[in-house]
Amino acid sequence: MKALLVSSLSTDLSGVELADVPMPERQPGQVLVRVAAASLNFPDLLMTRGEYQLKPPLPFVAGLEVAGEVVEVDPDSPFQPGDQVFGGQKTGCFAEYVALDAAAVRPAPAALSLPQAAAFGAAYGTAYTALVELGGIKPGQWVLVHGATGGVGLAACDLAKALGAKVIATSGSPGKLAALRTACEPDAAILAQGKFREAVAEITGGALCDLVYDPVGGDVFDESTRCVAFGGKLLVVGFAGGRIADVSTNIPLIKGFSVVGVRAGEYARRFPERGKAIRDAMLALAAEGKLTPHIDRVLPLERWREGYEAMARREVVGKVVFEP
Ligand SMILES: NC(=O)c1ccc[n+]([C@@H]2O[C@H](COP(=O)([O-])OP(=O)(O)OC[C@H]3O[C@@H](n4cnc5c(N)ncnc54)[C@H](OP(=O)(O)O)[C@@H]3O)[C@@H](O)[C@H]2O)c1
Repeated sequence: MKALLVSSLSTDLSGVELADVPMPERQPGQVLVRVAAASLNFPDLLMTRGEYQLKPPLPFVAGLEVAGEVVEVDPDSPFQPGDQVFGGQKTGCFAEYVALDAAAVRPAPAALSLPQAAAFGAAYGTAYTALVELGGIKPGQWVLVHGATGGVGLAACDLAKALGAKVIATSGSPGKLAALRTACEPDAAILAQGKFREAVAEITGGALCDLVYDPVGGDVFDESTRCVAFGGKLLVVGFAGGRIADVSTNIPLIKGFSVVGVRAGEYARRFPERGKAIRDAMLALAAEGKLTPHIDRVLPLERWREGYEAMARREVVGKVVFEP
């Protein structure tokens, strides 16, 4: 079968190619899925460079989330051949077929297309864990979402709006603000450059933000410490900007806010009951049509490079989806 193989680490994707590889062998407890759509996540890009916390042994098939059709299962599996499902694992999803643990697979939400289902789990799981589970978001609160044109950022905007919060969405790319307004209809969209606290203060009437959701880090994190309301939370989601920020502990003390680390996948593994509750709640919102993953582009897997390069150049608004 065709799959996107990473055979050496590189910063220019030179170690990545579409290759013929053996079909995955389904193990007991696994579901073999014919991939209809697989979405690109920032860790996929980092893993081609060896810059992600997980460093799979080389060579490995890239891709961490999919949607598709079940083709083979255990006799006692809750799934049947023909079921449409979505799910994921750290690698192996940019391929024609993938074998996934049955526990990592869920029925695809009827309200979503398969490309949308492939773009749902990681982005919305991260947003839900951060905003609801760890952030305790409430209707009417102000939420500042950074990296809002990205996968986890746009999902956070969508979720916060669905839950009745007021959203200030940010981008570091001036040319993407208009597309950001169209994609998630935030209460305000601003540039996350320089002293953006003044804009946040003006928009919120001086109240600042109850929650700040930060997948970018670096200077954006530093300025965000000036944007959190007393009693609020600064949710550390990622470092897409490349620099891991430091915070002087007197700042959260004086300003009375918390800095909260978000590790959505690990949270669900450590607290499986909570992980299940999070997935059930997300699926219920999706079934009600309240959550809609925004797809920037769907590409045949042969055009994988275009998707990876667009993400690296920050040209994407929402998610890139590959179809094998
Ligand atoms: N904590 C968790 O559980 C968890 C889960 C999933 C992902 N993450 C992390 O969250 C971050 C975002 O992931 P994602 O999949 O949403 O990525 P993405 O789709 O590429 O979005 C990242 C966004 O960050 C902004 N950005 C600012 N500076 C950037 C830079 N120097 N390079 C690239 N983007 C930059 C870009 O928006 P503008 O161009 O509009 O500024 C971009 O849209 C990553 O660090 C990822 O590892 C964390």
